[in-house]
Amino acid sequence: MSDSTPAVYSITLELDGERHQFQCRENQTVLSAADDAGIAVPSSCCAGVCTTCAARIQEGEVHQPDAMGVKEDLRKDGYALLCVCFPRSDLRAAAGQEDALYQAQFGQYQS
Ligand code: FES
Repeated sequence: MSDSTPAVYSITLELDGERHQFQCRENQTVLSAADDAGIAVPSSCCAGVCTTCAARIQEGEVHQPDAMGVKEDLRKDGYALLCVCFPRSDLRAAAGQEDALYQAQFGQYQS
C-alpha cells in the first residue's frame, strides 16, 4: 500500500526586496501556493510559455516538465517558471526574474 499524502515543502521566495515564506505541496505549483498565501507573484499565461512568472532557484530542487519558455541549460542554471514548477525539496528562490531570463536567453542576439 502506498502513502498517497503529498509531501509539503517550505518555500522562501524573494520578491521586490521582500522575503516571503509559505508551504507548497509536491503536487501544487509554487505560483498557486504563493497565491494561496496572498503573495502577488507576477503571472500571465500560467502555462509555462510567457515567462512572466520567471524565478531563479537558489536552493532546492524543482520539477517543471512543462516549462517550455526556458531552455534546458538555463533550467539547469536555476531558472524556473513558477506557474508550472513543483517543489521536490524545500526551496529558496528569487521571483520577478523575467528580464534576467530574457537577457540570459536572448541577450546574445542583441547588439
Ligand atoms: S505565467 Fe506564463 S510562463 Fe508562467
